[in-house]
This record gives sequence, structure tokens and C-alpha cells, in this order.
Amino acid sequence: MPEDTKIGNTARTLRPATQLVHAGTLRSGFGETSESLFLTQGFVYPNAEAAEARFKGEEPGFIYSRYANPTTDMFEKRMCALEGAEDARATASGMAAIAAAIICQVKAGDHVLAARAMFGSCRYIIETLLPRYGVDFTLIDGSKIENWQNAVRPNTKVLFLESPTNPTLEVIDISAVAAVANSVGAKLIVDNVFATPLFQKPLELGAHIVVYSTTKHIDGQGRCLGGMILSDKAWVDENLHEYFRHTGPGLSPFNSWVMLKGLETLSVRIKQQTENAAKIADFLSTHSAVSKVIYPGRADHPQADIISRQMKGGSTLLAFEVKGGKKAAFKFENALEIVLISNNLGDSKSLVTHPTTTTHKNLTDEARAELGISDGLLRLSVGLEDADDLIEDLDIALKAAL
Ligand SMILES: Cc1ncc(COP(=O)(O)O)c(C=O)c1O
Repeated sequence: MPEDTKIGNTARTLRPATQLVHAGTLRSGFGETSESLFLTQGFVYPNAEAAEARFKGEEPGFIYSRYANPTTDMFEKRMCALEGAEDARATASGMAAIAAAIICQVKAGDHVLAARAMFGSCRYIIETLLPRYGVDFTLIDGSKIENWQNAVRPNTKVLFLESPTNPTLEVIDISAVAAVANSVGAKLIVDNVFATPLFQKPLELGAHIVVYSTTKHIDGQGRCLGGMILSDKAWVDENLHEYFRHTGPGLSPFNSWVMLKGLETLSVRIKQQTENAAKIADFLSTHSAVSKVIYPGRADHPQADIISRQMKGGSTLLAFEVKGGKKAAFKFENALEIVLISNNLGDSKSLVTHPTTTTHKNLTDEARAELGISDGLLRLSVGLEDADDLIEDLDIALKAAL
């Protein structure tokens, strides 16, 4: 299984669009063009001595697909090239990645500090699961750096944030939070789902670990769930390697293959979806049925200065508030003909969700108010349709909501 020699050995620095197509490719003796799908649980050895050497780590090679698999290896290597990470592990879902990244490095008596604007399942891990094992936590408004500085403790082991956040697209200063983590020797984990590896590189900004739900933009075509954890080799070796082998959260080779195919088209999809989203954000900002638009590509975004320093592009997602609360939001959703109602995001099909009654329904009214999630708020994940068709669809539905 030689690594692709053209890409693997080049001394040139490749640009992301080229990495997305070629990086990490392994070719079998058949010289196939497309990445091979190795649907195999195990691997055979030429003799007993070779099996012993492989188990001792004295000889390279695959042992068992719970540990590593050639197709998944290609997906991990391609993500490493894109992210500038030394090592990675692909997981069965984004939540498997986030759970593993946190749990593999904490023990009873440790403290986890996190921005409270995060995906609901992450709150379950931090607020409900970790305390059962003696790990304490603090949730803060992560947009203010002094909140991180005031809440960090000598026993803080992990800082966790999502930026931009779901669903209000708040942006957190990753470099400043990384400095807080470094002040106590803790590790900063960044959930980079909304930004994608093309628009934000948390490791370059000082974060120690990056996690993805590759279910979102990386597949981007609504097929498979997946996740990824990326970091430096020392952290993976010391914390994740054994945890991952023995708890088995790894991604199936089939899903890894789908993700590799997704990566090939990621840059063109993100470019077009972001262009569409920017056009829609401008349209919504002038609409009489809309009271607020939050879009990271607009100058009126509350953290526009951080965005200009830390992100290379806007977003495929935007949030907006319709006048008339839940009733108007539901009328709007039900009048849409092209945009689909779905809690997923990053898809080539445009998707809208009403966070109060779906993704964030488990939060208390106060918790939702703290996060700026009003009853009229909608999150729109913009797809690959013609932007003008989407604008027409939104306009008709907004008029129906008035
Ligand atoms: C920001 C964010 N992080 C993590 C996840 C979890 O990913 P998955 O559904 O692949 O487990 C999601 C969505 O579900 C998400 O939106």
C-alpha cells in the first residue's frame, strides 16, 4: 500500500483545493484512480513473526479496523494536511469525536471550562456525564475574554468552545482563549463545524485540539455521519491513542470513503454556498418581516473585528429573526417550497430550523434567552441551489408569515 508518491513526496506547499483532492491517498498495486474502499475487519500476516512484530509496533501495517483501516487512514491524513495537524482519528459521529476528545484526557478532580453557547449534546456531556465521574465544570458567556480568565482554575484541564456558535453564529476569539488555556497548562478544544477547515484554522490560532462533525459540510450531501479529532502527535499518543483502540468509536471504512469523496468537492461547495448565503443575508436584512439578521460575512456582525482576524470567509449559515415570534416562524417554514425543514446543516440542499422547538428545546427559557435564541429565530443552512430561486422562496414564505 504505497502512499501516493506524487503528492506524498512533494516538497511544494499545496493549496487547500489540491490537498482536498489528493492528500493522504494510498494506492494498491492495481493503481486505481479513486481511493479504494477497504471493507475488512482484520488483516492477515505472512507469518507468525510478522504478526508479533506488528503487535509490538516494530513493523508498520494494519492490525484490526477498530484501531486503523487504510480507507479511514486516507481520510485522517487528508484532514491532517488540510488542518495542519500532525495526527487525527476519524470517529462514527461528531459527538463521538467530542466525547472522546474530552473524556480521554480528564480524571476525577479535574475541571472543564466551556462557552455555554454549544451544541446541546455537548452540554449533556459536560453538565450531566462528566460530574458522574467527579469532573467539575463551569459554563460561561464565551464572547467575553475576562469570563474565561475569571473562571479558569489551577485544576482546569480542558477548555471547550464552538465558533461560530450554533445557532446564533457568535464568534469567540480563539487566540485569546488559547492563551488562557496555556496559563494553567490546559488544552483548548475547538468545535470547528460551522467554520469548516477552509475558513478557520484553530491550531494555527493556538488551539490544541480541533473536532468536527464531518456529517456536516465535509460529507455535505446528507449521506453519512462522521467525526474527526485532530491534534499534535504527542497529545494523540499520550491521551487518545489507547482510549480510541479500547473504546471503539472509530468511523466505518464505508463512511470514511464517502467522506473522502465529500472532501474532493468541499472547496467548490463551500465557496458557492457561502456566496449564496451572503446574498441571502443582504436580502433578509432589508425585508420588512425580518427584525434581525446575524451573518458572519456582514460588517454589522457583533464580532466583525474578530472575524476579520480569525476567519478567511463568512459562512454557509445565517440566523434571522422574523417579526411575530413562534407563530410567524412556523407560518414561514410551512410556506417554503424549496428550502426544507431540517435540523441538519452544511448540506447541498438548503435547510431551515426553528431552534426553540427543535435543536434547543431542552434548554430552559432563561438559558435560551441567555443565548439570544428568541421564539422568532430561525437558522438557515444555505445550499447549492440558485441563490435567486432561494430568495424568491424566502420572500414568498416571509410574506405568508406577516
Ligand atoms: C456544532 C456541532 N457540533 C457537533 C455536532 C454533532 O455532530 P454529529 O451529529 O455528527 O454527532 C453538531 C450537529 O449535530 C453540530 O452542529
